[in-house]
Amino acid sequence: MSERSFLLEMNGIHKSFPGVHALDNVHLDLYPGEVHALLGENGAGKSTLIKVLGGIYTKDEGEILIDGKKVEINSVKDAEKYGISIIHQEIVLVPEMSISDNIFLGKEEGSSFMISRAAMEKKTQELLDSFNMGLKATQLVSSLNIAQQQMVEIIRSTFSEAKIIVMDEPTSSLSDKEVDALFNTIRDLKKQGIGIIYISHRMSELDQIADRVSVYRDGKYIATKTVKDTTVDELITLMVGRQMGNYYNRDYNECKETILEVRNLSNKNVHNVSFELKKGEILGFAGLVGAGRTETMRAIFGMDPKDSGEILIEGKPVNITSSKDALAAGIGLVPESRREEGIFPDQSIKFNETMKVLSEFIKNMRVDAKKETEIAQKYADELSVKAPGLYTLVGNLSGGNQQKVVIASWLAAKPKILIMDEPTRGIDIGAKAEIYAIMNELAKTGVSIIMVSSELPEVIGMSDRVVVMRSGEISAVLDRSEADQVTIMKNAVNI
Ligand SMILES: Nc1ncnc2c1ncn2[C@@H]1O[C@H](COP(=O)(O)OP(=O)(O)OP(=O)(O)O)[C@@H](O)[C@H]1O
Ligand SMILES: [Mg+2]
Repeated sequence: MSERSFLLEMNGIHKSFPGVHALDNVHLDLYPGEVHALLGENGAGKSTLIKVLGGIYTKDEGEILIDGKKVEINSVKDAEKYGISIIHQEIVLVPEMSISDNIFLGKEEGSSFMISRAAMEKKTQELLDSFNMGLKATQLVSSLNIAQQQMVEIIRSTFSEAKIIVMDEPTSSLSDKEVDALFNTIRDLKKQGIGIIYISHRMSELDQIADRVSVYRDGKYIATKTVKDTTVDELITLMVGRQMGNYYNRDYNECKETILEVRNLSNKNVHNVSFELKKGEILGFAGLVGAGRTETMRAIFGMDPKDSGEILIEGKPVNITSSKDALAAGIGLVPESRREEGIFPDQSIKFNETMKVLSEFIKNMRVDAKKETEIAQKYADELSVKAPGLYTLVGNLSGGNQQKVVIASWLAAKPKILIMDEPTRGIDIGAKAEIYAIMNELAKTGVSIIMVSSELPEVIGMSDRVVVMRSGEISAVLDRSEADQVTIMKNAVNI
């Protein structure tokens, strides 16, 4: 058998930020036509490594070889020149532009892409149709939900003359159907000899799509394994440096008292939604992407208008027309899209964690900074936020650690009712277990939780009851004993 040669090699890569040695002698190699997955806990350095490859960060030390030749990548343009295309963890589309304009952005002038707007729109439409997206090429990106935006990013990247495509958590907000379409595209790209670097916290995807997997921990390279010669357990142990036990630990309590009642809630996205949430209950919301779960939560929380319907808290009707009203009524919401709604990236961890409860620290017109720091530290510790300190800007944290700060800020606000929309998206397996443990503790102390999640094992593992939505309506409310994968899916899809 002839030795295959590498398409890409990264050797001895170092990168530091103030207070963080984000990459410490890191290695990665990639064959043409292979999918190489990168695994590691939140903050392990995965995104930093690919940002070095993409010319967004300049490495402090190390070498990059493409087709065996040493190259210098100091800018995004350099990276493009070497055929490197990156789909970043945070979406970078221009919302005020159409899908087609976004897909062709920066490619209009290149010789091979000198084509008319009509031709661009036609080509875009073909691509959208091949992904069964049900979208128009001329539609503005701002009118798309997160999953749709992510698909547009993926289409944009595959539609370039790339030799190396990097996908940083591409599936985190996709439905199963969209994941299937993406995997088919990846298989096509492989056949063309394109090398793919694939970052995901979903271990179950490895078997389906990856050939090899490299594990990173605390900025260090740990090991590379061939997927068919390793096991999920082995990889998790390499990732977290210890063995993990069962992580859905629930102390089920008798939930009797109704705390929240939603009656016949309707607006342009949801129809006649009625359900009850009990005190100390974890109520799961399952359904396909687009089933109306997020929209229901936004309406309850006052972010979207309601056309009709009633909301009662502890038996009393409440009128919630803004998130401020919701907060005053004791409701918190960890949003699906943290970049847009959850955080201030240019502010510190401390600010972000305590901003909702600042009034608690104000005494005699002065902020009790000591108390504020105490609270901020407590929640940062509880959620193991990985950062040099409380004053680190949230925008500089890894994706998963940003999510932890959003959750921390809501825990600090101590709501009676906490709505969590995809709370563990982008969160590593160790931190997930910590979040589940916190949810269990909250429920035990009488906090009521609504958890919207597309990960069925998590819904089933954590919920007292499961509400299933389909096409903007509730299709089933299942007790814990009835809520298995098959029953949930049957109710989630249109038969
Ligand atoms: N621009 C920056 N300034 C300061 N620190 C940074 C910056 N970018 C990354 N870091 C730090 O580098 C470390 C590695 O972060 P990175 O985003 O690479 O993690 P990751 O493995 O992608 O994690 P996740 O799974 O959460 O996305 C983290 O401690 C992060 O806070
Ligand atoms: Mg990352």
